[in-house]
Formats: sequence, structure tokens, C-alpha cells
Amino acid sequence: MSLYIVIGGFYGDEGKGKITSYLATTSSDGKLAVARAGVGTNAGHTVVHEGETYRLRSVPSGFMVSDSKMYIGAGVYINSQILLDEIEKTGLAGRLFIDHHTGVITKDHIEREKASKHLNEKIGSTCSGSGAAGVDRVLRKLKVAKDYEELAPYLTDVSAELNTLLDEGATVIVEGSQATFLSVYHGSYPFTTSKDVCASALLSDVGLGPSRVTEVVVVFKAFVTRVGEGHLKDELSFEEAKNRGWDEYGTVTGRPRRAAPFDFDLAKKACQLNGATQIALTKMDIVFPEMTGATNVDQITPEAREFLQQVEQRTGVQVKYLSTGPSSGEVIEL
Ligand code: GTP
Ligand code: MG
Repeated sequence: MSLYIVIGGFYGDEGKGKITSYLATTSSDGKLAVARAGVGTNAGHTVVHEGETYRLRSVPSGFMVSDSKMYIGAGVYINSQILLDEIEKTGLAGRLFIDHHTGVITKDHIEREKASKHLNEKIGSTCSGSGAAGVDRVLRKLKVAKDYEELAPYLTDVSAELNTLLDEGATVIVEGSQATFLSVYHGSYPFTTSKDVCASALLSDVGLGPSRVTEVVVVFKAFVTRVGEGHLKDELSFEEAKNRGWDEYGTVTGRPRRAAPFDFDLAKKACQLNGATQIALTKMDIVFPEMTGATNVDQITPEAREFLQQVEQRTGVQVKYLSTGPSSGEVIEL
């Protein structure tokens, strides 16, 4: 039995989808389940597998492993249309399950967010309706998955199933969304998402307890990016980011992402907030181009080795995975 939690260490888009897809395809020779935790359809996770690119807002990033089961926890917000489209695109009908109590976003939630000057102009929200759905949840008037006929085929008790799978020796991966410093409690408030998204909250989202955890994998990109507003230490101009090859564009919004060099102090704080046991560093190929596509420890360049040693020294946590490209297999495991 192994329970992994995958969580972003900075401001999102670190490549949680990529690391989840790697763990899903390699860490289980038996039963596998991946459970989406975190906020909702405001996320955009990218999986590149066998030459195909999937941009997912709800479906967990382990769908391509045949016979695996995919879950969405009670603490997550779904949008029926987006979810049903993704189920079709990934061919997941029959092995994707939603908790009876998963919250459902409606057009009204999206419109309420779009009409909010505060969210649009000050916070830089994605306006996907997750926050407004959360408001209704707190007021106990949000409709949940069991209230919608079209979701009936997918309903289950996610917590019960995940606990049973762990009892039976399965590998379970809890996939977070957003990231540590977008947590409404521990992030750069008010420039955050609408929920806590640190490791403990992710467990609660899917109904698992802390005693079951094997590894807490905090994912950092080899540089820092941020969408929306809020402080970003040592932020580069867009031109400088482009010169370094660090320019990125949002999966959900298409907005250019702001960029800055790796922040060791922030990384240390993220490891504390999440109780990290392992670090994954993504986009190593962007910062160290000779490592593009590398899968072997012999291919780690001296500069890259120095960087990862510095990450370990400054955080006190082992760097376990180096991601060297977008594909699920492009990882050096240490
Ligand atoms: P959020 O929940 O929105 O934070 O998503 P995420 O953390 O899954 O990241 P997202 O998919 O939004 O962005 C990461 C981007 O980097 C995607 O386009 C990935 O395909 C890509 N990517 C991930 N790891 C690597 C890597 O090691 N090298 C390269 N070149 N691209 C990568
Ligand atoms: Mg993203």
C-alpha cells in the first residue's frame, strides 16, 4: 500500500499533472487509483502521454493507466459540462467516480464571479465559478453531485472506496490543484484561490486521514511562475523571461504567466506547510537544456546537480524526481 500526495510548491502550474502521470504509470504494478483534490475547474493540468496532449480541468492525471480508477473528492467543485466532456475525451466512463457530495458549479456561479470587479480587477481570478460555489457551500445551499440526474452513473462514496483500496494494498495518488502559496490560509492573501490547498486540506477533500500517507511530493518548477495578481519576488520582465525561454501561457485562460528565478526561501516554507517528504523539480530541461528528455542519473549535468543539492540543503528535503520534458516518461528518479 502507498499513498502519495502531489502538491504544487509555488503559485501553480509547476507540472503536478506531469508528475502525477509519471507516478501513475510507474509506481504501481497492481491496483491504482488517482483522486483529484483541490479547488475545481479553475485548474488546468497537462498530461502528455504517448504523443497525445490532454489539458484537464477535472479528470485526474492518471486516466491513461488501463484498469486504474479515477476519483473526484467531496471537497472539489465540478462543472457537469466540463466533466462529461473530459470523460468522453479520455474514454473514462465506467472507471471515473465522483463523491455524492462533490459540489456542482452552475452558470450562476460563473456569472457572479465575472460580475465581481474585486475578483476580476484586483485578484485576477479565473472566474470559473469555484469560489462562488464555495460561498454557496458555506451557506449550505449549494447543490451537490447527487442532486443531478446526469451525474448518477458516476456517484460513489469516494472516501470509503479509497480507504478500501489502501487496505487491499493499492497505490493511491491524491492530486492537488493550484498550489501552496495560493492557499486562502497560507498563501499570499488576498491574492489566492478560494480554498486551502495544502497537503492536509487535499487529504480532507478526498476523505483520507493523515496516518495513511506514505509520501508528500511537493512539485517545484526550476523557476517560479505566477498568473493573476500578487507579489512575485525578483519578477522578470516579459522580455527577459522570453529570452531565458521561461515564457508560459495559462492552460485555462491563455494569459502569459509572470516569471522569476527559483525562490529557495519560499521552497523551504512550502516544505514546512505541506510536511514534504520528497521534492519533484520540473522543467529542468528549460533551465539546463542539455538534460532535455533525460531519464538516467548519468545525464545530470554538474550545474543541475549543484542546483538540486542546493534545493536539498536549503529545504532539508530529498529531491526524488527531476522532470526533463512534458511527456509522462521524461523523468530521472533519484
Ligand atoms: P495547475 O493545477 O494549474 O497548477 O497545473 P499543473 O501544475 O499540472 O501545470 P500545467 O499543466 O498547468 O503547466 C505545466 C506545463 O509545463 C504543461 O504545459 C506541461 O506539459 C509542462 N511541463 C511539465 N513538466 C515539464 C518539464 O519537465 N519540461 C517541460 N519542458 N515541460 C513540462
Ligand atoms: Mg495549470
